Amino acid sequence: MSSNSTGVDFFVIKALEDGVNVIGLTRGTDTRFHHSEKLDKGEVMIAQFTEHTSAVKIRGKALIQTSHGEMKTEAE
Ligand code: TRP
Repeated sequence: MSSNSTGVDFFVIKALEDGVNVIGLTRGTDTRFHHSEKLDKGEVMIAQFTEHTSAVKIRGKALIQTSHGEMKTEAE
């Protein structure tokens, strides 16, 4: 359940190394990269899925928290 006024849950990505890439993929029939955000170690990105973004790809070592749980992209 969402706990903010937009009605869409946020997810959190914390970079565990320098140069983590958070890549937003477009919603709709055409699935392509539309945004790439680079995070250095310790930086945090808080984001939502939107009308423009239906999927997110994360490259590099990161901690990800969603309403479905918490995971790391890589084993320690
Ligand atoms: N302009 C994008 C959008 O509204 C910004 C964005 C939202 C985004 N969530 C994202 C970019 C997740 C990358 C990853 O959809």
